Amino acid sequence: MSAIEKLLLGLRFIGFANGLRTLSFSLQRDWLEWRYGEEPKRADPLWPGDLQECRAIPGGGKFHFQNAELELFFLAPDLVRVTWQPGELPPPYALAGQAWPAVESEFHDTGMVRSVSSEQLEVFVAEDGGLRFLDGSGKVLRTESPPQRQGASWVHRSSLLPQEGIFGLGERTTGLDLHGGRYRVWNMDPDGNYGPGTDPIYLNIPAYLSLKPEGGYFIFYENGHDGEFDFGSVADRIGSTQETAGTETERTQQSKVTFKGGALRYYFIPGGPRHALERFGELVGRAPLPPRWALGFHQSRWGYRTAEDIREVVAGFEQHELPLSAIHLDIDYMVGFRVFTVDEERFPDLPGLVADLARKGVKVVTILDPGVKRDRNYEIYKQGREKDMFCKLPSGGVFHGPVWPGNCAFPDFTDPQVRAWWGEQYDILLDAGVAGIWHDMNEPAVFTAWGMNRLPLAVRHALDGAEGDHGDAHNFYGLLMNRAGYEALRAARPEQRPWLLSRSGWAGLQRYAWNWTGDTETSWAALHMTIGTVLNLGLSGIPYSGPDIGGFSGSPDAELFTRWFQLATFMPFFRNHSAVGTARREPWTFGQPTLDITRKYLNLRRRLLPYLYTLAWEANRWGYPLIRPLFWRHPRETSLWAVDDAFTLGDALLVAPVLEQGARTRSLALPSGYWYDFWGETVYQGPGEVELSAPLERIPLLVRQGAVLPLEERDGLHLHIYPPVEGGGGGALYSDRGEGYGPGRLDEFDLVLAGNALELVWRKQGEYPFPYPQVELHLHGLQAESIWLDGSELTMEIDPLRLERFERVRFEFKARH
Ligand code: GLC
Repeated sequence: MSAIEKLLLGLRFIGFANGLRTLSFSLQRDWLEWRYGEEPKRADPLWPGDLQECRAIPGGGKFHFQNAELELFFLAPDLVRVTWQPGELPPPYALAGQAWPAVESEFHDTGMVRSVSSEQLEVFVAEDGGLRFLDGSGKVLRTESPPQRQGASWVHRSSLLPQEGIFGLGERTTGLDLHGGRYRVWNMDPDGNYGPGTDPIYLNIPAYLSLKPEGGYFIFYENGHDGEFDFGSVADRIGSTQETAGTETERTQQSKVTFKGGALRYYFIPGGPRHALERFGELVGRAPLPPRWALGFHQSRWGYRTAEDIREVVAGFEQHELPLSAIHLDIDYMVGFRVFTVDEERFPDLPGLVADLARKGVKVVTILDPGVKRDRNYEIYKQGREKDMFCKLPSGGVFHGPVWPGNCAFPDFTDPQVRAWWGEQYDILLDAGVAGIWHDMNEPAVFTAWGMNRLPLAVRHALDGAEGDHGDAHNFYGLLMNRAGYEALRAARPEQRPWLLSRSGWAGLQRYAWNWTGDTETSWAALHMTIGTVLNLGLSGIPYSGPDIGGFSGSPDAELFTRWFQLATFMPFFRNHSAVGTARREPWTFGQPTLDITRKYLNLRRRLLPYLYTLAWEANRWGYPLIRPLFWRHPRETSLWAVDDAFTLGDALLVAPVLEQGARTRSLALPSGYWYDFWGETVYQGPGEVELSAPLERIPLLVRQGAVLPLEERDGLHLHIYPPVEGGGGGALYSDRGEGYGPGRLDEFDLVLAGNALELVWRKQGEYPFPYPQVELHLHGLQAESIWLDGSELTMEIDPLRLERFERVRFEFKARH
C-alpha cells in the first residue's frame, strides 16, 4: 500500500477532526520526547569481565563477574532461570505465581570448569560469562556468548545452526519459521491495516522454540522492554561483519537478542514443542476453560450502527439457517465512542436486545477501548481525574492523546487501584446481560501523523509499586487491561466463566483473554499469512486466536471469502469481522454458492464442538495450542518446519486450506503415517508430497490414522473411527455444562489393533453425566465381518451401529483397504 493510500485509509477510519488532532499530538509527542527523553549516551559495550567468585545457592548458583552478576536457579529439573544484572528485575506480570517445589541441584567448581546441574539439565559457566546448556544425556542444546551491556541495554548472542528452526515470538507476519528474520518485540497497532512482512504488530511475546534435528529447547525472556530478536537476518550479518569483522559464516551461526532496559532474565526449557509448552504453561499459566459458546461462530462488523441492524443480522442468520453463537457490538454502540456508555437513541434497550438474542441462543459481546474521552461532563473521565486513575506526564499533568473519541486519557493498568476501578465500570455492560467483552486498541494505540503511534516514553506508570516510565510499562499494558477485565468478570459473575477477547497482550495473556489477529488486509497473501501468525501465537502460549474472516480493511470477493471461511472453521476463534466502509459480508450477501458453502462449514463447526471443547480442556490442562504446526508430533521431520500452508486441529485433523485464487487442487507436504480423507475413503501415506482435490466447496481435510473423532449430530454423538494401520490409537472427549465451574467428565476411546480385529475400549472418569443419549459408531476404511459388543456378537444388519453404552466393541474383519 502506498503512503497516499495509507493516508486515505487512515482518514477514512479516523475522520478529519481526528486527523487534525493527530498532527498536533505528533508535535506534542515529539516535544515531550525531546524534553524528557534521555539521549542514549554512546556507551561502550561492556562484557561481564572475568569471573571473580562463585558459590552454590539452594537450587543453583551465583557467579560474580567484574561487571555483572549471574544467578542460575532451577524451578524444576527441566526449567532453569537465568538472571544477569545490573538492571531492574521485571514485575512478575507474566508469571502464574505458583510455588515450585525445591529442586535438587549440584554445583561443581573444579577451578577450571563450573556448572550447575539437575537431573535433566546442566549449565556450564565459562570464565568470561559464556554459557552452555546440556540436556540430561550430555547433548549441547545451546551455547551463549557472554552477554553484552551497552548503556541500559542488553545484547545477548547465542548459537544458531544453519538448519535450526525458530518459532514463537507471539504474533508474527512472516510465516512459521522465523529463522533468517529480524523481529521487534514492541506492541504496536499497524494503523488499521497490515499484511505479510509488517513488523511488529499488536501482541509480542519474547519467547521462542528452537528445533534442531537432534533436539530442541524453549526460551522465555522475562523482559518487557522494547527489544529485538535477530535470527541471522541479512541486517545482522552485515552489521556484525562490520562491527566485529567476523566472517559471514560465523555470524549466521548466532542469534542476537536485544532489550533496551531491565535485567537480562530468561528461562530455559529443554525438549520438543509439546514438552516445552507444558512447562512454559506451568510458568506463565494456562488458558482457563472458556464458556462453550465461545467456540461457536461469531458475527461482527464495525458499522452495525443500531439495535435494528443487529436484530436484522441475527434474523438473517436464522432465516438462512446459519448457526450463530455470538454477535459483537463494535464502537458504534457507544455515545461518541465514550467507553462504558450506551447510545440510548441507537441502542434504546440494550438489556432487551441482549435478552431477545439470548432466547435465540445468540450471545452479545461488546467492545471496550482503554482511551477515556477528555470531556468534563463525562462521568468516567470525571471520576478518573478525581481518583487519579490516568497515566501522567513527568510534570504531573494527565497525559492525553487522540483515539476514536478524540483526545483521551489512559488508565494506568499497572496500578492495582486503577485495575479495580476500571473493573467496577463493567457493570453497565454486565447488568445489560452482555456475555463477553472485546478489548481493543490496548497496545495502547494513539493516532499519530508520523513516528510510532504510542504514548510518549516519558509517561509515568505505577508498575505495582516499582514505578517506571512508558518504556518500562508499554508491553504490559494490554496484558494488564485484560487482567482488570478478567478479575472484574470473575467477581461480578462468580458462577460464569469470563470471556474476553484482546488485540494486545504479553506472555501470560492466555490466563485472561483470547486474541484475534487484528486489522489484516484483504488479500490472498494475508489469508496465507494468518496460518503462521496463529501457529506462532500457539507456540508462544496463546492457544486461542483467529483472523477476521475475509480480512479487515477491504472487501473480499466471493472466492476469497469462501476460502477464508473454510480455513477459519478450523481456527480456535471463528469470527467474521470487517471495517466500516467495506462491503457487507454476512454470508448471504454473496449469494450462491457462497451461502450454501458457508452453511455447510458453520454446521461442520457445530458438529466439531465436542472435539474443539476437548481441545480447550487440553489447552487448560497441558498448555497445548488448539491448532498445531505439522511438526508438532514430528519435530524431527525437518522438512515440516517451514510448512505454514497447513496445520492440524488437535492431533486428529490435518487442515490444508486453499490459498490461491482459482486453485481447485493443492499439494501438501504430508507428515509420516497414514491419513484418511475426511470427505471420502482415500488413504494417503506420508511422508511426502500429495495432491489433494479442492473444488470450491471443499477444503482438503485429512484424519490421522488411529483417530477417534467425535462429531455432535442432531441425534447424538457420532464416533468416527479411523483404524490404525499399525499400532494403536484413540480419542478423548471432555464434557461438562459448558459454563461455570461444576463437575466434568472425560471419556476416552482407545483403539487396539490385534491381528484381524480392532477393539474400541471406552474408559470413563468424572462426575458429570454423559451428555448424549446414544453413540453411533462409524468405521472408516475397513469392512467388519462381525461385530462384538461387550463379548456378544451383534447381527450385522445393525447399520448404523447405535449403542447406548458399551465397555468394548470388537470389529473383526478379513480384508483391509
Ligand atoms: C480497530 C480494531 C477493529 C475495530 C476498529 C473499530 O481497528 O482492530 O477490529 O473494528 O478498531 O473499533
